[in-house]
Amino acid sequence: MTYLICSHDIVSDLLCSIYMLVKNIVVICIALFTGAVSIRATETEMTVSELAPGVTVLSAGTPDRYTPYSVFGGNPALEAMRKLPAGEPSVDPAMINLKVTDRGCTVSVPLGDGEQLYGFGLQFETFGQRGLRKQPRVNDNPLNGLGYTHAPQPFYVSTAGYGILVNTNRNTTFLCGTNEQNDNYPSRTAVREGIATDTGELYRSRTAGNRVYIDIPGAKGVEVMVIDGPTLKDVVRRYNLLGGGGCLPPMWGLGFKYRVKGDAVQDSVMRFAGYFRDRRIPCDVLGLEPGWQTAAYSCTYVWDEGRFPDHCALLSDLKAKGYHANLWEHAYVNRHSPIHKDIEPYSGNFLVWGGLVPDFLLPEARSIFGGYHASLISDGVAAFKLDECDNSNISRPDATWCFPDMAEFPSGVDGEQMHQMFGGLYMSVLDDEFRKTDRRAYHDYRSSGLFMSSRPAVLYSDSYDHTEYIRALCNSAFGGLLWCPEVRDSRSADDFFHRLQTVMLSPEAMVNSWYLQYPPWLQFDRGRNEKADFLPEAEEYENTARELINMRMALLPYLYSAFNRYRVEGTPVFRPLVMDYPGDENTLSISDQYMIGDVLMAAPLVGDGDSREVYFPEGIWYDINTDTRYEGGNLYRVSTDRSHLPLYVKAGTLLPLAEPVQFVGDDTVFRLNCKVYGVPETSCTLFEDDGVSYAFERGEYNDVTLTARNGKVKLSRAKGPEGFSGKRYEVVSAAFID
Ligand code: GAL
Repeated sequence: MTYLICSHDIVSDLLCSIYMLVKNIVVICIALFTGAVSIRATETEMTVSELAPGVTVLSAGTPDRYTPYSVFGGNPALEAMRKLPAGEPSVDPAMINLKVTDRGCTVSVPLGDGEQLYGFGLQFETFGQRGLRKQPRVNDNPLNGLGYTHAPQPFYVSTAGYGILVNTNRNTTFLCGTNEQNDNYPSRTAVREGIATDTGELYRSRTAGNRVYIDIPGAKGVEVMVIDGPTLKDVVRRYNLLGGGGCLPPMWGLGFKYRVKGDAVQDSVMRFAGYFRDRRIPCDVLGLEPGWQTAAYSCTYVWDEGRFPDHCALLSDLKAKGYHANLWEHAYVNRHSPIHKDIEPYSGNFLVWGGLVPDFLLPEARSIFGGYHASLISDGVAAFKLDECDNSNISRPDATWCFPDMAEFPSGVDGEQMHQMFGGLYMSVLDDEFRKTDRRAYHDYRSSGLFMSSRPAVLYSDSYDHTEYIRALCNSAFGGLLWCPEVRDSRSADDFFHRLQTVMLSPEAMVNSWYLQYPPWLQFDRGRNEKADFLPEAEEYENTARELINMRMALLPYLYSAFNRYRVEGTPVFRPLVMDYPGDENTLSISDQYMIGDVLMAAPLVGDGDSREVYFPEGIWYDINTDTRYEGGNLYRVSTDRSHLPLYVKAGTLLPLAEPVQFVGDDTVFRLNCKVYGVPETSCTLFEDDGVSYAFERGEYNDVTLTARNGKVKLSRAKGPEGFSGKRYEVVSAAFID
């Protein structure tokens, strides 16, 4: 395995063990007498305290006033955290060093041989992070493996069963076992004699280490959270629960979303609304892009009456047809916006596209911005797409649209820290307005960070590498993030449909046609699409797209119930195989397949061709389309045609597949065709509630159990504390597959 990078040195390990033993004894003695202990790390005094069950905080110096946890956390799901299995902490806090220097803070954390690390937020290029230098920085373009991305996180999890989270909004650098300090004598890196004559030889002598070093320039103090497992999955669950648990999107949010072209007008939007219903292509959400406003870069948040003469009629017509309307915007307030004057005193000292940047840390800015949006919400807007809240591409000299790191905000934070919080703050301001009306929303946003798992919002990007999109889906799971590998134009039919398959198997099934006049299945080439020059196979492709979207709709009850487990237990719905099969070495590097809930595995196809190699972890698996059986522990070449989803089901599963509906209405009842794989008896549970409000938090829900026995599937309901009086599911058929 590539991450086994160090040779072992017995003497240094022995010395290290003796040191650890003595240090542990001292720490334990102190801990017996006090709750929070103060221990002397190598360089700086640090305090140790328990934040929540299985979460230890190490602190040194004077941490910043606004940290990710102080801004976005603070509401841990303690009861659920207590229910998680408790294990021996697999990293000893006493072996973690915190240091405050004139430069800032540094942290160093031990790293065992054979440990692999994951995380750092929504990473696109890398998966296993050991042996890499990572710089999780906010960027609008995930251009390089360093870690610049829409949703960076100074947080990693280890296969040894712990997580390390640096609770800072500052820029950080993590050296993940890449470097060695000179006190680690004798060196773990083999020293090569002689003179290097080529770069390969030169680089072979570089040092590698058994610690992670973290650099936080500018910080006067630091807080490090050590999150216990015992397994990788438990670490992630504990982290999500520390942030309040996972979100439960409205049911309609899990249906199909189509975003129309940026310059759409009221009539063209309604033509789209008619198109989907006429062609019986399910669609729950229509998204409007910049053109709905009088000005968009920066934003006024005012409907353009030229293009949308009667927006209230538009919203109610869409509603009548079963659609939810989503509006694009960003947070930079145009001088013609009605909120410009009021929000000016609560904004930063740099403009973006000539617009003010609200300081959402201030209650005044939140209430002016949120209060104004409340009226859009009461007009019938169901969610927002919060664009451009990341940062201009910091690796290019000519990309300068955003506020700089030197920007000053009235709350006292600088631009560097604000970047890290901006997407999360912006989305929270708007989502709080929906909460006030007891309605769930499901937003798109382009930037996020730590402790956002409980917020119903999905990340997206302008980048468009399909392989990276799938890897990002795997990586999003380590940090409580949701990611949409959206589809736009394509270079071939295979490329288009493979992308469409992937997005159907993601948190949000979205086609983002913001620059396409017509649906891309009619013409996936951008230039020809604009000219209505449709493909000869347009009708066939429309049918194929419908089949894929129908399949997404069939999965909706399963997905919704998996999201409920995300909410309650913190288990991410979409997650890489290594979380479920940590003992299987083969899964350590797999970032092109992932679990969806507990019993489905996706293995998306990329590029041209209809087959790929799929790795099946232990057990028996079935192709959802053909019922072909696969033996776990093996790699198979598997074909999936364009009109089916590359999806596999674990033996022992009862999978309820809904008859596809055109949209999810308030009184939709899903008719379930159940498939039972490989066993005569099994069961599954579904979450049942109104699907739109927060009434489930007040106990208004049912747990529905489907039980397969004697060739039949029976449905039973256990009411939650207050119960849900409606009905969402009924069983119409059962098929047993050997
Ligand atoms: C981009 C965004 C696209 C689209 C476009 C409209 O920033 O990523 O999805 O919304 O803006 O201008």
